Order: sequence, then C-alpha cells, then structure tokens
Amino acid sequence: LRVLVVGATGVIGRAVVSALEGRHEVVPVSHRAGALTLDLADSASIGRLYEKVGAVDAVVCAAGGTRFRPFSELSEEDFRFSLMHKLLGQINLVRLGLRFVAVGGSFTLTSGTLSRRPSPGGAAVSVANAGVEAFVASAAIELPRGIRINAVSPGWVAETLKKLGHRPEGGTPAATVARAYVEAIEGETNGTVIEPGGA
Ligand SMILES: NC(=O)c1ccc[n+]([C@@H]2O[C@H](COP(=O)([O-])OP(=O)(O)OC[C@H]3O[C@@H](n4cnc5c(N)ncnc54)[C@H](OP(=O)(O)O)[C@@H]3O)[C@@H](O)[C@H]2O)c1
Repeated sequence: LRVLVVGATGVIGRAVVSALEGRHEVVPVSHRAGALTLDLADSASIGRLYEKVGAVDAVVCAAGGTRFRPFSELSEEDFRFSLMHKLLGQINLVRLGLRFVAVGGSFTLTSGTLSRRPSPGGAAVSVANAGVEAFVASAAIELPRGIRINAVSPGWVAETLKKLGHRPEGGTPAATVARAYVEAIEGETNGTVIEPGGA
C-alpha cells in the first residue's frame, strides 16, 4: 500500500514509519523538515500537499499541536491553537484527501486518552481529542468507496515522558503505539478508537 504519514518526524510518527517500512511504500510528511511539508492549520497547504503526492491507499496523521497548561492559564488563543491544529487540521486532512484515497483505503487519525480521562492542564487537549473521536465516528458512516476511518488514542508515550525528564515506565513504548496504526491500516475496522497497549 502507498501510505502518507503526516507527522513522520515526530515521536509517534517515526515509530509508525519504522513499523510500515518494508511492508508498504511510505510517503513521509512533516511540518518543516524533508521534501514534503504541510501546516495542519493551513488548509491550502494540505490541498497543495495532496496535489503533489497524488493517489494513496492510506493516510495516517500523527501530528496536531495542542496547548497543555493549567485551566486558569489557558487562553482563548490556546484553545483556538489546539482546535485549529489537532481537530480542524485532521478534519481537513480527511476532507481534502478523500478524492486522493483509493477504493477500500483508510484514514487513521490521532486523538489521545485525555478525551475520556481528563487530567489537570489538559482541558484544551481533551476537547480537541474528543472532537477527533466524534468526527471519526460520524465520518465512518458516510465515507464513500469503502474508505475506512479510525483514531488511535495513545496515553503518554514512554519516549515522550523521557524527553520531558520523567520516568518512562508509566508510558507506552512508541513501537507499541505504532502497531495500532498498522492494525488500523491493514485491518477492517471502521469508526473505532484504538487505545494502544490497553492505555
Ligand atoms: N507523545 C505522546 O505522549 C502523545 C500522547 C497522546 C497523544 N499524542 C498525540 O500524538 C500526536 C503526535 O505526537 P508526538 O508526540 O509524536 O509529536 P511530536 O514528537 O511533537 O511530533 C510532531 C510531528 O508533527 C509535525 N508537526 C508539527 N506541527 C505541525 C503542523 N502545524 N502541521 C503539520 N505537521 C506538524 C512535526 O513536524 P516537524 O518535525 O517538521 O516539526 C512532527 O513530525 C499529537 O497529536 C499528540 O497530541 C501524543
């Protein structure tokens, strides 16, 4: 399969690329690095990316910035940023990508467990994640040509915890998270939210 991976240079995206390489043709996309770039908050850049890449069998999104800070400090701009990138950005990736995805192809988006298990500082992230999951459930019953859509909903990724100076033991290894994306691409599920490693 020809698989477009948005966020290919990130902690999760890199693991998804490794898990797919050798099994499928990977088309990596990032924000700034590499030959193919897009800005999730800019729908025109998403359209240009698809025109450049052409037909694909699957689209993975492992990107979508959010702002994590105490509720008393979260500004309207923080909510706007989180919704523009993680929620509307991923919705636009599906809307604008639909005509480039082959019959029986798939979209796999990223939410996160804060959608259903809140944590202090996570209000903007929770709203964006819940929106992604609601979008996936509703788009799944309408996408044409047998195209499927699912979300992977990770908890903390071990490598991210380590990067932030925390102990990685409480997190899910990126390689385990990546397997959930591979399952979504290669399997038959539609409209589901997959929690990798039983997060
Ligand atoms: N890591 C975790 O613990 C965790 C847990 C739950 C959910 N998630 C979700 O998983 C997704 C990926 O997280 P991550 O930790 O792997 O992220 P990350 O390491 O920060 O990587 C982000 C990726 O997205 C790209 N990117 C950044 N801004 C972008 C933009 N405006 N438009 C398009 N691409 C952009 C980056 O490209 P450049 O390299 O060019 O900047 C990079 O490839 C996010 O939605 C995050 O909320 C992560």
